[in-house]
Amino acid sequence: MIVVKIGGSVVCKDASKVIQNLPKYADRAVVIHGGGCLVNELLKRMGIEPKFLTHPGGLVSRYTDWETLKVFVMAMGWINKYIVASLHGLGVQALGLTGADLGVVVAKRKERVLVIDERGRQRVVDGGYVGKIAEIRVDKLTPPPLKVLAPVAVSEKGELLNIDGDQLAFDVAREAKAERLILLSDVEGLILGGKVVPRLTPEEAEKLVKSEEVRGGMKRKLLMASEAAKLGIEVVISSGLVDSPIDAALNGAGTHIIKNI
Ligand SMILES: Nc1ncnc2c1ncn2[C@@H]1O[C@H](COP(=O)(O)OP(=O)(O)OP(=O)(O)O)[C@@H](O)[C@H]1O
Ligand SMILES: [Mg+2]
Repeated sequence: MIVVKIGGSVVCKDASKVIQNLPKYADRAVVIHGGGCLVNELLKRMGIEPKFLTHPGGLVSRYTDWETLKVFVMAMGWINKYIVASLHGLGVQALGLTGADLGVVVAKRKERVLVIDERGRQRVVDGGYVGKIAEIRVDKLTPPPLKVLAPVAVSEKGELLNIDGDQLAFDVAREAKAERLILLSDVEGLILGGKVVPRLTPEEAEKLVKSEEVRGGMKRKLLMASEAAKLGIEVVISSGLVDSPIDAALNGAGTHIIKNI
């Protein structure tokens, strides 16, 4: 199985290249998508300023209060159905779902989270509606039909929760014992010193999470890539904006994170 994560950065720019490449993999893939940029755009249009929390170690997450959660689920719903409808146009009958549908992704609400405040001090704050993934019903995600999964989970109490798309892609890859995890974004791969890094070991990827040259969403990608690669899953971080991006990723484009190279 191949887990393909279509980054929100791709969706907001041009998802057509990756969608056109998906029919070829419909019988052996699971698609996960992001959508952070659309969530930000909708929040701003509604007069709500997007808020982010920085955690120790440098990872950043969206502060998701009740109003933000509604916008988050709406944005992800649109992206999910947009992908499914586009696939239908290509003759692929896909099933789009959130983690709440069939209880495919159950998460525990993070009631309190540790953050680094503006003065650089550690503080515990309310976690909002953000989930830590507890269980994935991977049997429901195996094709056919091709599943397109939004980064929304459900708690045991029945709450919708925001979960990170890269984390979800990693958890699905692990549970499905996938051979490959392809993280498609709007950059050609991990860029250091102006160049795409072709290969990394999981240990190298993990160290780079703290590097000043690695910022924003790339930190979490490297962390997830390192975890996946340690389990023997080959991870590719590459561009979703090029022609046939999945073929390209499988043919060596981007940054490949592999154990024992
Ligand atoms: N060293 C780096 N090399 C490549 N990209 C980097 C680096 N440091 C930071 N980035 C940023 O990481 C971004 C990709 O992560 P980001 O989380 O923004 O997108 P995504 O995962 O595709 O979208 P979403 O999180 O909505 O699914 C790139 O757009 C780039 O600006
Ligand atoms: Mg991201």
